[in-house]
Amino acid sequence: MFGRIAHRYDLLNRVLSLGQDRGWRRLLARRVAAAQPQLTLDVCTGTGDVALAFDRESRTMGTDFCLPMLTLARRKALDQNQALPLFAGDALMLPVDEDRVDVVTVAFGVRNFENLEQGLRELIRVLRPGGVLLILEFSKPSGLFGPLMRGWVRIVPPLVGRWISGDSEAYSYLPQSVSEFPQGQRMVDLLEMVGLERVSAQPVTGGVATVYEGRRSVHG
Ligand SMILES: C[S@@+](CC[C@H](N)C(=O)[O-])C[C@H]1O[C@@H](n2cnc3c(N)ncnc32)[C@H](O)[C@@H]1O
Repeated sequence: MFGRIAHRYDLLNRVLSLGQDRGWRRLLARRVAAAQPQLTLDVCTGTGDVALAFDRESRTMGTDFCLPMLTLARRKALDQNQALPLFAGDALMLPVDEDRVDVVTVAFGVRNFENLEQGLRELIRVLRPGGVLLILEFSKPSGLFGPLMRGWVRIVPPLVGRWISGDSEAYSYLPQSVSEFPQGQRMVDLLEMVGLERVSAQPVTGGVATVYEGRRSVHG
């Protein structure tokens, strides 16, 4: 599915989020910079927009299981003259040694994991003790504009996504997968259960998306 939409993926991100996705990625980049990592791994890197937003001083690698996405990420890194080592890998079984990475980021990826708990444990496995996991994921908007935004997510992506990408499945899957996915406190509880400490959840743009952050316990 991701291979079929790769060529239109960036355009649809901008259109469907009304340009908000750039701000969400910048927020993630600031959180990464605050952790002062020597090595960051961006899992489900897609076309590389998240990884390429990170500070050029620290080393970042990107991984994804979709080769058309990785090809676009590689081209973008070359165009921007940025070093971004990329490798193919399934997030549920990363080809990375344990305790290796200072920060792991996943933007709009964990919602697609076939087994969420297994995937989260795998992300934590490659983190060094005390390392930071940052997840950016869609959530259900709340507050005054909640009903309006929930209506947007239900109606606009399937229509516009189908029109621009030519794929009827990919963007119909979006609202359904968002509504079924654990979010807010439920996600915080899950992240603590799989071994993170000091877990926080910060909703952005009225809760359309949420940034989750936690540290791998130094005790195990
Ligand atoms: C919605 S895109 C997000 C891409 C990028 N992180 C961004 O924010 O633009 C989801 C990406 O996750 C990848 N993906 C989904 N499940 C995966 C898995 N189990 N292992 C590796 N990549 C996965 C897809 O191939 C796709 O590129």
